[in-house]
Amino acid sequence: MRLNSPQINLITKACMKASRSLIRDFGEIENLQVSEKGPGDFVSSADKRTEKILIDELQKAHPEYGIITEETGTINKSNVKNRWIIDPIDGTMNFLNSIPQFAISIGYEEDGEIKCGVIFNPIMNEMFCAEKGNGAYLNNSRIRVSKKKKIKEALIATGGPRETSKIKDKIFSEYINVSNNVSNVRKFGSAALDVAYVACGRFDGYWQRELNYWDIAAGIIILKEAGGFVDFFEEDLNLPLKKNILATNSNIHDQLKELINKKDIE
Ligand code: IPD
Ligand code: CA
Ligand code: CA
Repeated sequence: MRLNSPQINLITKACMKASRSLIRDFGEIENLQVSEKGPGDFVSSADKRTEKILIDELQKAHPEYGIITEETGTINKSNVKNRWIIDPIDGTMNFLNSIPQFAISIGYEEDGEIKCGVIFNPIMNEMFCAEKGNGAYLNNSRIRVSKKKKIKEALIATGGPRETSKIKDKIFSEYINVSNNVSNVRKFGSAALDVAYVACGRFDGYWQRELNYWDIAAGIIILKEAGGFVDFFEEDLNLPLKKNILATNSNIHDQLKELINKKDIE
């Protein structure tokens, strides 16, 4: 891998350390799945355990950096210059059901811009990473977005809505419009991996509403460095951590955007 900033080295090391206990926890799930109590509580403690390892590792090097995490919230709030954005397990529902489609996701932000990031699926042993100006990688191989130009031939991913969503009808009608105009739609349950899969050409595009910044922070730089395009729509300036994302190979970006805005493609 040709990435060598101190931040990417730190993130990679923290991910490798946290993944050891995460892999052990994943092994436990199968037993708990069939127990009376079920794996629910165990999974939320696995989430917290993973996050603690990540925070401890990153803080050892930079105790002063800001951190935004899913489980703990914000640490060192006043430092908005250097921040880690962490989701310890993205794809918790998959993890809970023994489905190996989940990842640790960590982005590093400097002056409001994501400079590097790692998305690591420890079960598949797939580490997606990127650093501004130095390309994106899957393990040791350089990755690039797909070359597809026609939305009709595209494989698109999405996610949601949550059961509690107040805009379910809107999300379902977008889904219908997109699925009527593309080759097929997938819903794999990890936003971080969905973006990473666009970056390496497995998907041609991905859109989703009602995400949080930690779901996709690392994905932003990985996709950009792989030649893709990412864009956030209908942003609410009062809720900067809430995101609606459109992430594509860049060729089909405008076409997917039109479909989300309810126009059929001729
Ligand atoms: C979730 C996953 C999922 C997406 C949800 C997210 P979590 O994150 O990324 O794919 O549809 O909106 O909240 O809860 O597994 O970290
Ligand atoms: Ca998440
Ligand atoms: Ca999570």
